[in-house]
Formats: sequence, C-alpha cells, structure tokens
Amino acid sequence: MLSSRLLTVVLLLVLVSASVVLGVRFRNYSLPGNQQGYEPVQPIAFSHRLHAGDLQIACIYCHSGADRSRHAGIPASSLCMNCHRLVTASPDAMLQEVQQARQAGRPPQPVISPELVKLYDSLGLDEKMQPDPAKKLRPIPWVKVHNLPDFSCFDHRPHVRAGVECQECHGPVQTMERVRQVEDLSMGWCVNCHREKGIAGVDGKKVKPSTDCAACHY
Ligand code: HEC
Ligand code: HEC
Ligand code: HEC
Ligand code: HEC
Ligand code: HEC
Repeated sequence: MLSSRLLTVVLLLVLVSASVVLGVRFRNYSLPGNQQGYEPVQPIAFSHRLHAGDLQIACIYCHSGADRSRHAGIPASSLCMNCHRLVTASPDAMLQEVQQARQAGRPPQPVISPELVKLYDSLGLDEKMQPDPAKKLRPIPWVKVHNLPDFSCFDHRPHVRAGVECQECHGPVQTMERVRQVEDLSMGWCVNCHREKGIAGVDGKKVKPSTDCAACHY
C-alpha cells in the first residue's frame, strides 16, 4: 500500500510533468507550507528602507555572497561596525540631546540607540566601544525569511551573473522596514520565469535558463 506522503509526491509528479508538457502556467501552484507574505520580527529593528533606500548602500555590500556563492549571506556584526563605530544613534536623536543639554546648561552626553546597544552587546563591547571581558561574543540570531526545501537547489550565482535584479525575486526590499517574502517560491514561479527569460532575455542579452527537472533537482 502506498503511504499518503508517497502518493502525494507521485500525484504532484504527474501533475507537474503534465503541466510542463502542456505548457500550462502554474503560477499559483504551491505546496502546503507556502510562506508568501512571511515577515518575521527580527532581533534588531534593522531597516532596509533606511540602509538600502535612504542611505543607498548597495545590496551586494552587505550580501556579498550573491554573485560568488549559492547563498547571498547575512552580514556579520563586524561589517555593521564600519559605520556604527561612529554612528551610535540617528542624527535626530543626537540633535535632540544637544538641544536638551543646552537648555539644561550641561555638556551633551553620548547617545546610543537601544537597537544599536544590541549590536554592541553581540560584539562584546561596552558603552565606550571597548571589548568588555565580562561580555560573550554572540552572533545576532537573525530569523531566516526565505526557506526553500532542501531537495530543490537554488543558487544565486547564475541569476545575479545573468543580470537578474534582486528585486525581481525579492520585491522592493529598499522600501521595507522589515523584510517580507514577496513571491511564493513555488516551482511554478521558478519555471515560469525560466520560460519567460528564455524568450525575452535579460537586459537585451540572450539567456537559456533550463526547464529540465535535473537542473533544479539533483
Ligand atoms: C532568481 C531569483 C533571485 C534573485 C535574482 C535573487 N534572489 Fe535572493 N533568494 C532567492 C531564493 C529563492 C532564496 C531562498 C533560498 C533558499 O532558501 O535556499 C533567496 C534567499 C536570499 C537570502 C537569504 C539566504 C541566503 O541565500 O543567504 C538573501 C540574503 C538574499 N536572497 C539576497 C539577495 C540579494 C541581495 C540579491 C541580489 C544581489 C538576490 N538575493 C537575488 C531568489 C533570488
Ligand atoms: C554604510 C554605513 C552603515 C552600515 C554598513 C550599517 N549602517 Fe546602520 N545606520 C547607518 C546610519 C548613517 C544610520 C542613521 C541614519 C538615520 O537615522 O538617518 C543607521 C541607523 C541604524 C539603526 C537605527 C538606529 C536608531 O535607533 O535610529 C539600526 C538599528 C542600524 N543602523 C543597524 C545596523 C546593522 C545591524 C547593520 C549591519 C547589518 C548596519 N546598521 C550597517 C549607517 C550604516
Ligand atoms: C547594511 C547592510 C544591508 C544592506 C545594504 C542590505 N541588506 Fe539585506 N539584510 C541585511 C541584514 C542584516 C539582514 C537580516 C535581517 C533582516 O532580515 O532584516 C538582511 C536580510 C535580507 C533578506 C532576507 C533574507 C532571508 O532571511 O531570507 C533579503 C531578501 C535581503 N536582505 C535583500 C536585500 C536587498 C535586495 C538589498 C538591496 C536593495 C539589501 N538586502 C541590502 C543587511 C543588508
Ligand atoms: C526572475 C526570473 C527567474 C526566477 C524567478 C528563477 N530563475 Fe533560475 N535562472 C534565471 C536566469 C535568467 C538564469 C540564467 C540562465 C543563463 O545564464 O542562461 C537562471 C539560471 C538558473 C540555474 C542555472 C542552470 C540554468 O538553467 O542555467 C538554476 C539551477 C536555476 N536558475 C534555478 C532556479 C530555481 C530553483 C528557482 C526558483 C526557486 C529559479 N531559478 C527562479 C531566471 C530566474
Ligand atoms: C527551475 C527550477 C525547477 C525545475 C526546472 C523543476 N523543479 Fe520541481 N521544484 C522546484 C522547487 C523550487 C520546488 C519546491 C517548491 C515549493 O516548496 O513549493 C519544486 C518541487 C517539486 C516537487 C514537490 C516535492 C514535494 O515536496 O512533494 C516535485 C514532485 C517536483 N518539483 C518535480 C519536478 C519535476 C518532475 C520536474 C521536471 C518536469 C521539475 N520538478 C522541474 C524547482 C524546479
């Protein structure tokens, strides 16, 4: 007797190959567990709207794996320190402190944003930015937003090298206060784009993304 899991897989396989053969668009086909719209709260209120939007820091500056490995990668806390060694709070908060200090006739105090305190803690630094032996180094436990099942093998490299923009797959991240999964990450989503780009190309360049099962399942 077939187990129900096996039966599901067999049925999906039939459905999927039929759709591929018939050229049906199965954009909304997705497996249970589809997490479209998933927008988890992160341990630090890190804003892409601020960093990638207003400050226009390039995506690849922080996600430097995107053009040279499978995973785009999440930056280490030490990379944040390139700026946050000096920038310890928003300019607004610093200005406010200067004004309050002047009114009170006292020297202004350093201002450290509570969100950035979490960054400094993770690096074991005290309020003077010096290593505090009492503090342990702890990587920030960022919550993963996108999760493909292990059996499918997505790789950033061929996409980024072919010139597919991050936003085509991740949506307008530079406007997001908190990252959200925009697409459904279903197989239909992958295959439909492979078909479309195979015809339309990317930025006028011809590309040949595969629709063979083995390209994505090996
Ligand atoms: C063709 C679609 C596509 C493009 C283009 C793309 N991504 Fe992704 N990205 C994905 C998918 C799918 C996942 C989930 C992968 C997984 O769970 O294994 C992902 C995961 C990620 C992750 C988290 C996991 C990891 O790989 O480290 C980051 C960060 C990320 N992408 C950033 C970027 C950036 C930055 C760019 C542009 C330089 C980019 N992506 C371009 C589809 C894409
Ligand atoms: C290239 C410089 C740069 C890098 C790199 C950078 N930031 Fe920032 N960040 C800034 C600046 C500038 C501000 C303040 C901008 C403002 O408020 O207008 C800021 C603001 C913030 C704030 C909001 C502070 C508050 O309370 O208003 C947080 C939180 C933050 N950054 C976290 C991070 C984290 C985490 C990283 C690493 C993943 C990082 N930043 C990397 C420049 C940077
Ligand atoms: C200053 C550093 C910085 C810049 C610039 C930046 N990111 Fe990120 N990105 C992060 C950090 C830190 C996280 C993990 C926390 C979070 O999800 O917000 C992250 C998470 C993500 C994720 C979710 C990964 C997952 O868990 O699935 C995607 C997608 C992503 N970034 C895409 C982009 C794109 C596209 C750009 C450019 C428009 C960009 N990022 C620019 C630091 C950065
Ligand atoms: C927005 C369009 C788009 C989406 C969505 C997309 N791809 Fe691609 N994919 C491409 C392009 C363009 C190439 C590069 C083809 C070339 O260089 O000839 C490519 C290449 C690949 C390759 C390298 C082998 C090949 O066919 O050239 C793999 C593997 C792959 N994609 C898997 C995936 C998977 C898995 C997903 C879904 C999770 C996905 N892709 C989603 C456009 C896309
Ligand atoms: C361009 C990449 C790509 C190609 C080509 C592709 N797949 Fe997939 N497939 C995926 C991704 C990504 C998933 C996971 C989607 C999800 O979780 O919703 C998937 C899921 C599946 C599943 C569901 C497994 C389960 O969880 O039960 C089956 C079955 C499957 N593919 C079979 C096939 C067959 C058969 C072909 C060839 C006709 C094929 N795939 C071609 C990317 C691809």
